[in-house]
Amino acid sequence: MKVILFGATGMVGQGVLRECLIDPAVESVLSVGRSPIGQSHPKLRELRHDNFTDFTAIEPQLAGYDACFFCLGVSSVGMDEEKYRHLTYDITLAAATTLVRLNPGMVFTYVTGRSTDSTEQGPMMWARIKGKTENDLLKLPFKAAYMFRPAGIQPLHGVRSKTAWVQAIYVVATPLLSYLTRVAPKYMTTSEQLGRAMIKVARDGYPKPVLESEDINAV
Ligand SMILES: NC(=O)c1ccc[n+]([C@@H]2O[C@H](COP(=O)([O-])OP(=O)(O)OC[C@H]3O[C@@H](n4cnc5c(N)ncnc54)[C@H](OP(=O)(O)O)[C@@H]3O)[C@@H](O)[C@H]2O)c1
Repeated sequence: MKVILFGATGMVGQGVLRECLIDPAVESVLSVGRSPIGQSHPKLRELRHDNFTDFTAIEPQLAGYDACFFCLGVSSVGMDEEKYRHLTYDITLAAATTLVRLNPGMVFTYVTGRSTDSTEQGPMMWARIKGKTENDLLKLPFKAAYMFRPAGIQPLHGVRSKTAWVQAIYVVATPLLSYLTRVAPKYMTTSEQLGRAMIKVARDGYPKPVLESEDINAV
């Protein structure tokens, strides 16, 4: 598979990138991002871009890919609805509509989160917007699209949060997170399981378009 990865500098994207680089099923990875990843690998190419609602300038470089792992996304904490919608819905749909036009045979996988609201009507702002984003992605004419809804994610293999206080919490909570990953797959997965599941589902398909944490752990 030739893969395009969005969000490679983030906590989720770092884990997905690691699995792509070590999995022989992935021939190459094109990372599209605004910040440098800070690593090099024979399978990895970086494309730096600033405007994530308009990909016209880099379109010729986005064709010829089999899968997109879309790990770009932000926390809604402290953010108003308009800004969160822009960073969640507008950016994701801008990338997806560009990619589907250039790569009609592509499988698109999107990382949302547990409790995403498919009705788009519920009380939680972030969940409604993620739900609308998922619903509209599923209407696009990709070969297939899969929505990954992890709950907690235990970072493994050097995956780190860029936010210092979040990283500190992960370090302190490591024993608890390891325990929860073993006993509560509904609420916890690892960066390794998530990355591996995204690769496997993009390659082999999955019986349903939305994967909850327990599905991700069982792939
Ligand atoms: N972390 C978790 O435990 C967890 C659990 C469930 C679901 N999720 C979901 O997974 C997704 C990724 O989360 P994460 O924890 O990896 O977030 P993160 O560590 O904050 O990383 C966010 C990624 O998105 C990129 N990004 C953010 N705003 C951007 C913008 N305006 N333009 C271009 N790139 C932008 C960042 O690039 P820069 O480096 O350039 O800022 C970075 O690569 C989110 O949708 C989140 O809801 C996360």
